[in-house]
Amino acid sequence: MEIIILPSHKEVNKEVTKRVISIIKKKPDSVLGLATGRSMLGVYRSLVEAYKENKVDFSATTTFNLDEYIGLLPDNPITFYSYMQENLFNHININPKNIFIPPSMPDNIEKECQLYEEMIKKKGGIDLQLLGIGQEGHIGFNEPSSSLQARTRVKTLTEETLRDNFGSYKGPRFTLTMGIGTIMEAREIILVALGEEKARPIADAVEGPVTASCPASALQFHPLAKIIIDEEAGSLLKRKNYYKWVWEHKNEVENLE
Ligand code: GLP
Repeated sequence: MEIIILPSHKEVNKEVTKRVISIIKKKPDSVLGLATGRSMLGVYRSLVEAYKENKVDFSATTTFNLDEYIGLLPDNPITFYSYMQENLFNHININPKNIFIPPSMPDNIEKECQLYEEMIKKKGGIDLQLLGIGQEGHIGFNEPSSSLQARTRVKTLTEETLRDNFGSYKGPRFTLTMGIGTIMEAREIILVALGEEKARPIADAVEGPVTASCPASALQFHPLAKIIIDEEAGSLLKRKNYYKWVWEHKNEVENLE
């Protein structure tokens, strides 16, 4: 795991955006796995700015969103479909045919989940998966106790997630989410976390045991996972000085040969 602790959320956004752009430049038909939530807003804003400044072209890019609430019409403002349109897709030149989001009104849940998995494979797999982290360590909507090998399926939200996302226990209780097994197949993963409330789940995910009780801890098994966070989110990491030291000397490592 590469743990990158940056002084502010602005620098976090910049670093993540830089990586997304560099992947698309190298491979214009890249497949991106996208996350929602407050932590991703700055990244999407920076990507839109970069697009407007002709620094990135999304015309050949494909995207797969991690998850979606079940039981809402897609244009309900709560859906991740709406979030993505509003914060990214409406402002860039992505081909709508290349946008995939789990359906919020599935006819046949099992079949739709299987189709989602098949579509990811058909497009060649995910090159870069962006992730946020929930207060209890969830990634996508894989709540604590999720199998670390699960594929796309239905998950029931915890009361904590309902409270975090809706301010109360009222809200859609069920979701379709890529499984941790699906996420772990991405060639590269970047997890973004901002603010003090993410300090505990980040410390558990990075320095705790690999356990289904903290789904993000599965990333310890990924060969190319970057955890890009601000100072507050990194505040409970025991080895934060070491991670900073590694980051400061990254250029030297790259030039060793
Ligand atoms: C939702 C999403 C997750 C995201 C999490 C964190 O629950 N399903 O993918 O990581 O929110 O959100 P935020 O960035 O708003 O804290």
